[in-house]
Amino acid sequence: MKKYKILLAISLIAIGLMSVLVASINEKKDEQKQINSVPQMEKRWETKNEEFRKYYPRQFDSWKQTKNSDDIHDMLKEYPELVVLWAGYGFSKDYNAPRGHFYAIEDNRNTLRTGAPVDEKTGPMPTACWTCKSPDVPRLMDEQGEEEYFTGKWAKYGSEVINPIGCMDCHNPKTMELQVNRKYLDRALATEGTLKMEDATQQDMRTLVCAQCHVEYYFDKRKTASGKKAAVVTLPWKNGFTVDDMEKYYDEIEFSDWTHKISKTPMLKAQHPGYEMWKTGAHGRNNVSCADCHMPYTQEGGIKYTDHNIGNPLENMSKTCMNCHRVSEKELLANINEKRERKNELHKKAMVQISAAHLEAGKAWEVGATKEEMAPVLKDIRHAQWRWDYAVASHPAFFHAPEETLRVLATAIDKAGQARIKLAKILAKHGAVDYKAPEYKTKEEAQKIIGLPFKKLVEDKERFNKNLVPQWKKEAEKKGLYNPESTKGIEDKTSYN
Ligand code: HEC
Ligand code: HEC
Ligand code: HEC
Ligand code: HEC
Repeated sequence: MKKYKILLAISLIAIGLMSVLVASINEKKDEQKQINSVPQMEKRWETKNEEFRKYYPRQFDSWKQTKNSDDIHDMLKEYPELVVLWAGYGFSKDYNAPRGHFYAIEDNRNTLRTGAPVDEKTGPMPTACWTCKSPDVPRLMDEQGEEEYFTGKWAKYGSEVINPIGCMDCHNPKTMELQVNRKYLDRALATEGTLKMEDATQQDMRTLVCAQCHVEYYFDKRKTASGKKAAVVTLPWKNGFTVDDMEKYYDEIEFSDWTHKISKTPMLKAQHPGYEMWKTGAHGRNNVSCADCHMPYTQEGGIKYTDHNIGNPLENMSKTCMNCHRVSEKELLANINEKRERKNELHKKAMVQISAAHLEAGKAWEVGATKEEMAPVLKDIRHAQWRWDYAVASHPAFFHAPEETLRVLATAIDKAGQARIKLAKILAKHGAVDYKAPEYKTKEEAQKIIGLPFKKLVEDKERFNKNLVPQWKKEAEKKGLYNPESTKGIEDKTSYN
């Protein structure tokens, strides 16, 4: 009798445990179903990222971790040469390394480059400067038409573009499938011709969603059908994806982003051709997508989902690199550091050469060099800086495409050298054979050489931050576009405060 009682008790316990297990499996099945389901949002374009949390908690919570990458790294302080290279252009005022997607809006408002508008019609930048910062951009393009979106000043959308890079940048608002929501990418791919958007596979999409923003682009200035001035984000891919193809394209259309303040060169600013550089590397050639390394699949207690904390894959090597590579993490890291050092060596040499070329060209003008004499010099400087910038602005191409990065930097150094040989002759001819470009060691010294009123820029910015920004936030809240809770407690970190 006693035996039976014990058996019964054991069976009951087992049954109890089983049902807990079954319940937990069912719960997980429900959650997995939810992950793969489509929510019915009230609005066609819900751009408040936090609204997605109740449907997709794991994707939202991991997305929100991009908030942890919050260090400000002042690149001008690290490399004062940058100030001289960008003299006369916004980047000489303020330039930080990228940080988490969560900060895209704050950083865009805070950078000295976007200036200090006092109303919607003032400020140095066009609306196009919002384009890669927010899901509110595809929403506006959809509501107002793409052409209208690209008209007016940056400040026009201060109370409209308010949520940082999020769900509606990469997903279809109805089905949540991956989708590119910026048509200029479709058009550029069609013009280039190798891969059309309509032929893109799911694996291609895992890269193309990033290529909406991590690409080279320029602002094409044109009139809209209704006669308004527009600055339209355009990708220069007509001749192909390489640095040489794009250089040729820009030369053909005689485009320049600005005229260099010291050397008077018609300059090109490389943006961040991450997609194009990736294509030339071992991973791009094998179609290892951006998401394969930056958004790995994650298993958590039987649930499989995509990690949306887009950051440095080296912090998560077991889920990324180690899926494909058999060498140890330590070996891979050593290999990457070696690549980084090789790049840094040429990167620094290129900056020093190009900076000297600008200053020597400035001197040449001063002592009476003619336009004809200077034309070939300016062409060399234009190409040298474009190439150097291309190799380092496509962060971090030294890893995504190591050989191409070194090739592009080597050609930059070569072209800067050519410019300086020509300049030596010109300076000698005009009696300045002994000229030595001034030396500088810090960001402040470099900004003084180019005559940049840094203090005033900061004061103006602080006024803008005190006056216009709170107004923008309030209006956005009234329109139902912004939830102040979503940015509560965030410190406004900048390079200047
Ligand atoms: C920068 C682009 C990007 C952003 C921003 C983004 N996603 Fe994704 N999302 C992806 C990619 C890439 C995948 C993987 C798709 C695939 O290959 O199946 C994905 C997959 C998903 C899936 C499918 C299930 C899974 O986990 O694989 C859901 C649901 C999802 N995302 C929700 C969201 C939500 C909610 C947000 C906003 C909080 C968001 N995503 C923001 C790119 C993005
Ligand atoms: C809507 C435009 C946009 C899209 C889409 C986008 N990015 Fe970004 N990305 C940015 C901007 C802007 C920054 C810099 C943000 C800052 O510094 O405030 C950035 C920063 C980053 C960083 C640096 C993060 C850090 O913590 O340092 C990585 C890595 C990155 N992006 C990878 C990707 C990948 C991979 C994809 C596709 C899955 C992607 N991005 C899609 C615009 C975009
Ligand atoms: C094979 C893996 C891999 C692939 C594929 C990949 N990346 Fe990366 N990415 C990395 C690693 C590793 C780093 C960090 C390198 C370092 O330590 O600086 C990184 C860094 C970055 C950064 C951060 C730069 C910074 O300074 O904070 C950006 C932006 C970025 N990748 C974008 C992309 C985009 C866009 C694609 C697709 C076109 C892509 N990556 C494809 C591995 C990859
Ligand atoms: C989806 C698979 C996949 C992932 C994930 C992946 N790789 Fe690779 N990796 C490849 C392939 C394929 C090649 C090319 C191999 C060949 O050509 O023989 C490659 C080549 C390389 C090379 C040699 C080529 C070069 O560019 O120097 C290095 C180094 C490398 N990977 C490092 C990494 C690191 C670090 C990570 C993680 C951040 C990573 N890989 C993630 C598939 C992957």
